[in-house]
Amino acid sequence: MSIIILGIESSCDDTAAAVVKDGYILSNVISGQDVHQAYGGVVPELASRAHQQNIIPVVDSALKKAGVLKQEISAIAFTRGPGLMGSLLVGTSFSKGFAQALNIPLIEINHLQAHIMVHFIHDNNMDNNMPDFPFLCLLVSGGHTQIVRIDDYLKMEILGETIDDAAGETFDKCAKITGLPYPGGPLVDKLATGGDPNRFKFSKPKVSDLNYSFSGLKTSFLYFLRDRLQENKEFIVNNMPDLCASLQKTIIEILMEKLIQASSQTGIRSIALAGGVSANSGLRNEMKRLAGIKKWKIYIPEFRYTTDNAAMIAIAGYYKYQGGLFSPRDTSPLARMDYDRSV
Ligand code: KG4
Ligand code: ZN
Repeated sequence: MSIIILGIESSCDDTAAAVVKDGYILSNVISGQDVHQAYGGVVPELASRAHQQNIIPVVDSALKKAGVLKQEISAIAFTRGPGLMGSLLVGTSFSKGFAQALNIPLIEINHLQAHIMVHFIHDNNMDNNMPDFPFLCLLVSGGHTQIVRIDDYLKMEILGETIDDAAGETFDKCAKITGLPYPGGPLVDKLATGGDPNRFKFSKPKVSDLNYSFSGLKTSFLYFLRDRLQENKEFIVNNMPDLCASLQKTIIEILMEKLIQASSQTGIRSIALAGGVSANSGLRNEMKRLAGIKKWKIYIPEFRYTTDNAAMIAIAGYYKYQGGLFSPRDTSPLARMDYDRSV
């Protein structure tokens, strides 16, 4: 009999639902929240209210697009954490209620592990080239920056992570300093294509092991602009593409330095990208360039699976379902959540 998983994601500002049947994606619906743009960042209270409005239409649409009846669902996989508590509560409560009503199992998913699991999605519209174990993944999102070793579908170990800001947060905060709206990452990427990446130099951190730090770069970017603006009020508008290209280059160099170190320390040359920042064109190109030099086998997600989505939750649920890894009915969300080590 087929395994049909409904995945639900609501950890931050995207309400998403997806249906996976026997590992194949049937639908992947995402409703973003423009309401945060005016505030330069996600406003938690507004995010949870928007999730409440969106969740039923999004789930309904995912089921309709998949051509699946609710009675056919085998289990519901939901993001238990990490994320914003109010946002997580909406997805978790909805999932608990729906699973109870349908009398089917509930499967909790760690959002970060799910980002990595996109590499195991079967999709009829893409080349299903999946990594062999073990492989390394650079997980770069708005809230996290980690180098993860993956030994099996749900057996993952964090080798290094940021000690302060995440890479996506750095893109967004620096973009905000220049006056760009939230989220600035995709806009910096776009503007950087027309700029000179070697024009400006910003400070790079010195952090031990495989850890990252981005707060120094953010401060260096802020002070650099403050000084230049004192000389010329038009400095930002006159230099936007070069500023974006130089900032992006610095972030990518910081990311890659530790990834190269992780690969040589572990001897693992299968390397994947995941998370929202893996949509960045400069990062994707740099991975391809390094793959040639370092003889890496690289795995770069399709754009639709880089930023938050529920396909990643559903596919992670599919693997947990096969292991019978179900959650109790009285489960509750976790704003902070360790990697799942149940497998
Ligand atoms: O994974 P994600 O959707 O949400 C979190 O789990 O945090 O990542 C969102 C982050 C934001 O910081 C956004 O600016 C960044 O990913 N991002 C990008 C690009 N697209 C999204 N950063 C740089 N270049 C992009 N093209
Ligand atoms: Zn995410």
